[in-house]
Amino acid sequence: MDRFSKYAEISGEEIEAGLEFATKQILHVLPDFTYKFQPAYSINNFYEPADNTDWTNGFWTGEIWLAYECLKRKAAKQKEEGKEPEPAVLEALALLKKTGEIQVESFLNRIEKKISVDHHDMGFLYSPSCVAAYKLTGNKDGRKAAILAADQLITRFHPVGQFIQAWGPMDQPENYRLIIDCLLNLPLLFWASAETLDRKYMDVAQQHIHTAVKNVIRDDYSTWHTFFFDVKTGEPDHGSTCQGYRDGSAWSRGQAWGIYGLALAYRYTKEAEYVDLFKKVTAYFMEHLPEDLIPYWDLEFAGWTEEELEKNPQPRDTSSASIAACGMLEMAKYLPKENAAYYQSLAKKLLKAIWEYAAVKDVNVSNGLVLHSTYSNHSPYNTCNHYGVDECNSWGDYFYMEALTRLSGDWEQYW
Ligand code: GLY
Repeated sequence: MDRFSKYAEISGEEIEAGLEFATKQILHVLPDFTYKFQPAYSINNFYEPADNTDWTNGFWTGEIWLAYECLKRKAAKQKEEGKEPEPAVLEALALLKKTGEIQVESFLNRIEKKISVDHHDMGFLYSPSCVAAYKLTGNKDGRKAAILAADQLITRFHPVGQFIQAWGPMDQPENYRLIIDCLLNLPLLFWASAETLDRKYMDVAQQHIHTAVKNVIRDDYSTWHTFFFDVKTGEPDHGSTCQGYRDGSAWSRGQAWGIYGLALAYRYTKEAEYVDLFKKVTAYFMEHLPEDLIPYWDLEFAGWTEEELEKNPQPRDTSSASIAACGMLEMAKYLPKENAAYYQSLAKKLLKAIWEYAAVKDVNVSNGLVLHSTYSNHSPYNTCNHYGVDECNSWGDYFYMEALTRLSGDWEQYW
């Protein structure tokens, strides 16, 4: 018996109810977010329409495609049962497809005009929006935009340090670093190589994975958010946090990006070492959750006493739990049966916790899908600004829906 055997898993009915509500919510808010996007985070649980200029806009389009897939499955099921799909379902499908296409145009325009693309988040932007559109509907502009985004991403590769630089001008020593989140940007490069039959994209991805995995995972399997290298020699220099509580603590979302990132690294490289690291990084995450399984924004706080937390309350980050669950469901596809079942079960337990604690079930409460996420929480020891604390955020909504989609049947992933 492990510590987690006592927890309930999300049920089949809850998974279906969660997807049904998410699809309903997306259709409900669609008029406000067709030519505009949901921004990174809500204000008092409501998103305001925003332009396509942040690193997060792909998640909203990704939600539209997930809703489209959910209704496609529904229509296919109705057909299998010998019924004609309901007209309302067909109408909603057409509307979601049209909206997805409008947004793909916006992403094509963004990359062609190079609007706010001078950073590494091309995968977060273009995988759930444009790669998804191409995979699901054969959208040619989606393919074109995603390949241009992959071209843009590899311009940030440093051959000396062998990594993709996250932020800032490429010639500044203070920006000569990678961040753990970047592992989710790399599937775009593997996809681009498969699509164009040009190895240059996957070569960069493989070198970055190798450098990142070697440096961001600490001896106890907690992770660094960011890692600096020596500009002249490319040698590893030091780890540091930006969005975590302090240097040396484990930022929850960084650890979750590590879990999903290692699963994707294994998917594309089949390096056995990544399975072992995935298990250890996942174990660290799970062992540093509070009793209700909803991560604090930094894993450190699970070790604080009740008294300390009462004096200095800390917000949660539900998005980390959804990201970690997606990573576990991804890695389960490549593991022996019993091992796979273990990670599938952990993922379902995290989803159950989110379902009880934070899933939106009423459109009057929020126009998002999951409450209680934390984007950027300033502490006395970190370097980030303060915003999006205890709010919905667009990746929290997206990965919750992706996890439910993964649990409800086969899914051809966007990553
Ligand atoms: N990738 C930035 C974040 O997770 O907040």
